[in-house]
Amino acid sequence: MLKWKELYNECLNCNKCSLKYSSNNMVFGDGNPRSKIMFIGEAPGADEDRLGKPFVGRAGQLLTKGLTTLDLIRERDYYICNICKCRPENNRTPREEEAEACLPYLRNQTALIKPKVIVCLGSTAMKYILGADWRITRDRGKWVERKGCYIMATFHPAALFRDESKKVLFWEDLKSVKGKLDELKKDS
Ligand code: URA
Repeated sequence: MLKWKELYNECLNCNKCSLKYSSNNMVFGDGNPRSKIMFIGEAPGADEDRLGKPFVGRAGQLLTKGLTTLDLIRERDYYICNICKCRPENNRTPREEEAEACLPYLRNQTALIKPKVIVCLGSTAMKYILGADWRITRDRGKWVERKGCYIMATFHPAALFRDESKKVLFWEDLKSVKGKLDELKKDS
């Protein structure tokens, strides 16, 4: 297992898939790596690729706003990253081989952070973290415990722009995350 800086450099120099050649920046992650909660999305979009930070575009801002309302502040309270660290052209879903090439980096990051809570944002993150048999509309909001870590999937914030009715459920899920964190704090 690599240490944080070594891992960052390894990702920077990675050429395990072709996304490196179609993107401008490797987007490692953002927030507090010492916090106990990780949010995991799919892959950087255009704004993230330009700025080198995850979830800074329209969808990211919506998520950040929701979390801030719950007093979860990125720099202080959580770490956020993606299944793939480089942007697929035109924001297409990462191919299986691209995700598989990038996953060892995410696993290493997760092993260093040791989160107590992981939130998968959208079906791509859910598929690679919880399993291919999980379905976002059916299974969002459900908690599972794996090796002492509580994992849940919710809608990708970008999906809320396409279907406004998802906003209520998404908000319920975020509140459930806050509830889980409070519960864990009480027990510790
Ligand atoms: N969508 C994602 O899944 N990740 C980002 O970083 C931005 C948009």
